[in-house]
Formats: sequence, C-alpha cells, structure tokens
Amino acid sequence: MKFFVDTAEIDQIKELNDLGMVDGVTTNPSLIAKSGRDILEVTKEICDMVDGPVSAEVVALDAETMLAEGRKLAKIADNIAVKVPLTWAGLQTCKTLSDEGTMVNVTLCFSANQALLAAKAGATFISPFIGRLDDINTDGLELIDDIRTIYDNYGFETQILAASIRSANHMSECAKIGADVATAPPNVIKAMANHVLTDKGLAGFMADVEKAGIKIL
Ligand code: G3P
Repeated sequence: MKFFVDTAEIDQIKELNDLGMVDGVTTNPSLIAKSGRDILEVTKEICDMVDGPVSAEVVALDAETMLAEGRKLAKIADNIAVKVPLTWAGLQTCKTLSDEGTMVNVTLCFSANQALLAAKAGATFISPFIGRLDDINTDGLELIDDIRTIYDNYGFETQILAASIRSANHMSECAKIGADVATAPPNVIKAMANHVLTDKGLAGFMADVEKAGIKIL
C-alpha cells in the first residue's frame, strides 16, 4: 500500500519523506488555507520535494472553470494529480483531463456508485472519505471494501486512495482490504509505530542494560 501524506505543511512532509515514508502528497482547499500559503507556490514546493503524485484541488464548481484551473495546476509539475470533486462538473473535467494525459484524483467520494462513475470517467485515483462516513455512524471502511470488490470485478485501473483517515487502525484495515493508497495526516502515520508493549519491552531491556552495565561504544 502506498502512503500519501495529507497535508500542505512543508516541514512535516520533509520529515516523513526523509524517512522514505512518502509515496505522494494530497492537499485540499482546507489544508491549503491552513498552511497560509499561496496554492501555486506551496504546491510547486511540494512537487519539487516529492517524487510521487501530488494532488492539488480545483476551487471552481463549474466544468469550464474547473478545466481551466486543472490545466493551470497540471503545468506546475509532471507529478501533479488534479483533484476534482465528485460532481457531474468534476466528472466531466476528469474525463477531459485524463484524456489529455493528466492524472486526476476524484475526491469527496461517499458511495460505491460515485466510485463507479469516477472509474468510468478515467480517474487515476478515487478518494473515498472514511472518517467523514464514520462521523455520521456509517462504516467508512465498508465503502473501501465495496469499491475494491467492484473495481476488481471489472478490472478498473482507477486506484483506491483511502482518505479522511483518522487513526492507525484505519491504515492497517485499508491495507487488509487492499486499498492501493492511503493518505493520512503526518501524526496518524507516526502513530502507526506506537504500541504499549513495545514501550514496556524496551524499558525492560534498558533496565537490564543498566543492571549488567552493557556497553557497545
Ligand atoms: O484528503 C481528504 C482529507 O483531507 C479529509 O480529511 O479529516 O477533513 O475528513 P478529514
């Protein structure tokens, strides 16, 4: 499973990228707003730092303007994936951009039907939002599983990019289901390393190192 980092914070991307934990980056208008940076400048900086796909989202709602924005974003770097919302305008834009050879990430997906439409429109990635479905007491992971089944039934090449990931458990469950990608905030990726028994075991080793006076250097 590929790890994408879901943030526009350069220093946090760099930290994980230096550890080889970054296969791509996703941003959205809220993450760009939170960064306080110009979307074109910060996106370019991310593209220069990361080899994998970098998702940058359009902000228009109509197809004509979305397409113009998408073409401008695509010019930033070869590894840009233009992000469009799962609306008919977004699907129309997805079809045109993907036919032009631009990677497209169709976002704000909350149903299997929406994911089917995105695949038929030639999406490179589909972004089903797990956490926001959980927030309304539905099972976000079940949607990932449904999309995996449907895409495998018909050999759709669109990659499932699990999004709105809120916990380390979401990461492992997405891997068990077979999501192609999971995009998560840096703190969630870091939390994947945490386990109380690891901490307890290490403390026990250190106590014995101290007791036995074990030295290597
Ligand atoms: O990439 C989509 C993601 O940023 C949304 O996450 O936690 O706002 O639902 P969240």
